[in-house]
Amino acid sequence: MPFPRFCARWLPLAAGLALAGATLVASPASRVAPIGVTETAEAQTGDAAWLRYAPIVDRAVSGRYDGLPAVVVSLDSSPVVESARQEIVRGVRGMLGRTLRIERELPSESAIVLGTLAAVGKAVKGLGPAPALEPDGYWLKTVAEGGRTLVVVGAPNERGVLYGTFALLRKIAMGEAVSTLDEAESPAAPVRWVNEWDNLDGSIERGYAGRSIFFEGGRVLEDLRRAQDYARLLASVGINGCAISNVNADARLLTPEFLPQIARVAEAFRPWGVRLAISLDFSSPKAIGGLTTFDPLDPGVARFWRDAIDALYRAIPDFGGVVLKADSEGRLGPAAYGRTHADAANVIARALEPHGGLIFYRGFVYDHHMDWRDPKNDRARAAYDNFQKLDGHFDDNVVIQIKHGPIDFQVREPASPLFGALEKTNEAIELQITQEYTGQQRHLCYLVPMWKTVLDFDMAAAASGSSVADLVSGRTFHRPTGGFVGVSNVGRDATWLGHPLAMANLYGFGRLAWAPALGARRIAEEWTRLTFGDDRKVLDTVVDLQLRSWPVYESYTGPLGAGTLTDILGPHFGPGIESSERNGWGQWHRADHDGIGMDRTSATGTRLHRAVPVAGGRALRVPRDLPRRSVALHAPRPVHPRAAFRQDRDPAHLRQPPRGSRSGGRLRRAVGGTAGTSGRPDVRRGPGPSRVPGGSRRGLARRRLQLVPAHLGDRGRAWPRRTLPGTGRGRAHDA
Ligand code: GCU
Repeated sequence: MPFPRFCARWLPLAAGLALAGATLVASPASRVAPIGVTETAEAQTGDAAWLRYAPIVDRAVSGRYDGLPAVVVSLDSSPVVESARQEIVRGVRGMLGRTLRIERELPSESAIVLGTLAAVGKAVKGLGPAPALEPDGYWLKTVAEGGRTLVVVGAPNERGVLYGTFALLRKIAMGEAVSTLDEAESPAAPVRWVNEWDNLDGSIERGYAGRSIFFEGGRVLEDLRRAQDYARLLASVGINGCAISNVNADARLLTPEFLPQIARVAEAFRPWGVRLAISLDFSSPKAIGGLTTFDPLDPGVARFWRDAIDALYRAIPDFGGVVLKADSEGRLGPAAYGRTHADAANVIARALEPHGGLIFYRGFVYDHHMDWRDPKNDRARAAYDNFQKLDGHFDDNVVIQIKHGPIDFQVREPASPLFGALEKTNEAIELQITQEYTGQQRHLCYLVPMWKTVLDFDMAAAASGSSVADLVSGRTFHRPTGGFVGVSNVGRDATWLGHPLAMANLYGFGRLAWAPALGARRIAEEWTRLTFGDDRKVLDTVVDLQLRSWPVYESYTGPLGAGTLTDILGPHFGPGIESSERNGWGQWHRADHDGIGMDRTSATGTRLHRAVPVAGGRALRVPRDLPRRSVALHAPRPVHPRAAFRQDRDPAHLRQPPRGSRSGGRLRRAVGGTAGTSGRPDVRRGPGPSRVPGGSRRGLARRRLQLVPAHLGDRGRAWPRRTLPGTGRGRAHDA
């Protein structure tokens, strides 16, 4: 991408931030040039993303690598280790301007040695015992032996060798010393996948970066170089699986004509250790299999799935697995036959099991025809209500793929209560990299801090270690598998995601999936250095923009925990406040002139809070256990002059500030809680009359049901029983 286009993208971005009242960008025009992007952007198109390996210009830094060996030896000849060898040559040449010599056997001089632990252990006598490593983990170790230095990248499997090589290159890019290494790393979880919502015609659902890199015109693309480059990017951050087709699935993918085509995608991925997966249409036995049913308990249906999956593995022996969206947003599922999600998942799981394949069954199941007049209805309960009762009924190769929050990738959501409710079932967290509700890659919104609020949140599901990251990794309940899935939706745009800065989210997803404890700042710094080089001013400016962007975006598109004020019935971009109300999609914020917020309390509301335990096994208390920013998501917040929220500068915390803090007091006042005998707020008592105009919280909720907004002119009567234009049943899904 030439510079002018890059610049053109920066201007609206900067202007948007300025308009939003952010202090980030004083003057868009004056802010673009000085950050120094001009120098580096001219030479790059964006397609190299964070794997540019820009020359290290600071001699004081590059000098640290003068002692790096001039030779690389790979002790395994597999395609994945071969990729690792190519990568180290490419990276060292780019950053340090030196071309490594490739040897097949250990030379007598210093060398970088790549290989599985078995191979390096045999070749390097002084290596010593290897540390305990999980599959895909790696060990970077320097060994001084026979007057030479060996920089060893060893791993239990080939993928680990590749990941260790990328880690070594990252260290060099970050200016870290590599002369005395002894570092072992294992990934947090075995599942580190991305999903692409690509359609066979080449379009991408919720994709904002051009057409598909896999499909066009109902076929797999002839030229899959871009898919190969994508696999390399994924591998560089440890991602080991990719489902290439939309969860709103096309049954044709399973037909015999298609298998050789998707086998070519698997070939493109293979050298980078990325396993291919596809999404399935649950009605396939009927849609393409010639059966009259897709009932999961029908023996003919079970046979269909066995045959179809066997055929897949004949075409792609290292096929990873499948993703299934069923009984959601119009997709067919087991409900058609009165069967459970476990019946549906297991019939496919049993076909996959002999091949070692996984099925990712999506927890995103809800009724999009809910009656909005019923104050007890709550879409946020849906995943929990549908799956919690089935805990223990799923086979061991089923993973329930759970969106990070209980609604749908809104700019602010608490952790989905389902994470803490499955003790005998594998889970994966689904994070959305493509910025569907978060600015669609036209607004800057660095999502890592938001994801961390969920990953770090302790679901209090076990005595210790039940953060969402622990739960999905399978550590808390000793599950055989689980992990992290990112909905990425890259496209053919040179920048992959349609905006160069958006790639920090793809990078950040991969880094968190590997090591969820990494900080948002550290990830932003890594990404910026790897993408734009080691210019200090560029680093400081870009990291600062990234770190501030989510709170700013939230402040103008979904403040007070409203989730989103964008047009939920249309593109999910641009203001559409009323689109959330009075329809069945359930993203209501119930905003009117009295207040804003769903009442989800146990006492008067939808009882969602019963599903959310907090430390000590007790149920969530509102507002005590909530951050100020999420309150409207949980309990109606009255409109009152004294209730103004101060925006919090620290996006990381999820809990209420310590008692006694001034802001804590303000929160309690804002939501109208009064102090109980313990001195703690007790929302069940309701707010004092002086605090909320018109009386108690219960009264507030009641009034909200009885009144209609002024613009409908029905004041004092029940909500009119009519469907607003464009919100009726049967309308094509767009929420
Ligand atoms: C959102 C999104 C849809 C998508 C759905 C899903 O609702 O808008 O396009 O299909 O999520 O995750 O299945």
